[in-house]
Amino acid sequence: MSQTCLIIGGNSGISESLVSLLSAGDTDLSLASRERGESLPLSAEWQEFDATDSSAKLDIPEVLDGLVYCPGSITLKPFGRLSEDDFRNEWELNFLGAVRVIQQALPALKKSNSASIVLYSTVAVQLGMPYHASIAAAKGAVEGLTRSLAAELAPKIRVNAIAPSLTDTPLAQAFLSSDEKRKAAEQRHPLQQVGKPEDMAELTRFLLSQQSQFVTGQIMRPDGGISSVKTL
Ligand SMILES: NC(=O)c1ccc[n+]([C@@H]2O[C@H](COP(=O)([O-])OP(=O)(O)OC[C@H]3O[C@@H](n4cnc5c(N)ncnc54)[C@H](OP(=O)(O)O)[C@@H]3O)[C@@H](O)[C@H]2O)c1
Repeated sequence: MSQTCLIIGGNSGISESLVSLLSAGDTDLSLASRERGESLPLSAEWQEFDATDSSAKLDIPEVLDGLVYCPGSITLKPFGRLSEDDFRNEWELNFLGAVRVIQQALPALKKSNSASIVLYSTVAVQLGMPYHASIAAAKGAVEGLTRSLAAELAPKIRVNAIAPSLTDTPLAQAFLSSDEKRKAAEQRHPLQQVGKPEDMAELTRFLLSQQSQFVTGQIMRPDGGISSVKTL
C-alpha cells in the first residue's frame, strides 16, 4: 500500500539512507532541510526549511502517513564549560524543532488511517556518558515527548523514537576521523562495530510501516549492545 511521508532532513547520514530505502518502494516523499543536497531522488518533493526558525512554515501534504524528524547535534563539553546557549541550542534543534514540526503536521497525520511518527534520541540518554549533558538533556526530553504523544495520539497515530549509539555519518565524523578512533569506538561496543546509517534507516522504515502496527511509545536502541550488555 502506498504511503506519504514527510522527512525533516534527507540529504545526509541516516535520513539520506532512509530516503534511498523509501524511494525504492511505494512511498511518496516530501523532504525538508536547509540545503537541498546532491543526493535527493528527482521524484521526491523538497522544500527549504530550518527547524530552529520558530516562524518557519512547512508545506505539508493533505494526508500524511509518516513523519520522521532527523535533525540533531553532538556538542560534547565538560559540564563546567557548557554555556546556557549550548543548552538552548541543543534544545531548539533536537526538541523544540520536533515539537513545532509535529504540531504543524498533526492535522495531516490525523487524516491518515494509520500514521506513524519517528523521532531520534541518543544512546546517551539511557547510558550516562561524560561530556554529554546538553545533548542527553535535550534528547531525554524527546524520549518523554515520544511516550506522552504515543499515549495522547493512540490509537490512530503511533509515536516511537530511535536512540542510536555512534553511527558513521557526517555528524559523527569527528569521532571516526582516524583508524585509531574508529577502532577504539568499535571496541567499546559489545558487537565490536559502530552503527551504519542503513541500520538506523531500516529500523525507521520498520517503524513507519504496517509491520510495526502493534508498536508505540517505544524507544528502540540500535546501539551495538552498549547500553544494556557487558561482555566478559
Ligand atoms: N550519527 C550519530 O552518531 C548519532 C548518534 C546518536 C543519535 N543520532 C541522531 O540521529 C539523527 C540523525 O543524525 P545523522 O547522524 O544522520 O545527522 P546528519 O548527518 O547531520 O543529518 C542531519 C539531517 O538533518 C538536517 N538538518 C540539520 N539541521 C537542520 C535544521 N536546522 N533544519 C532542518 N533540517 C536540518 C540536515 O540537512 P541540512 O543540514 O541541509 O539542514 C540532514 O539532512 C539526529 O537526530 C542525531 O542526533 C546520531
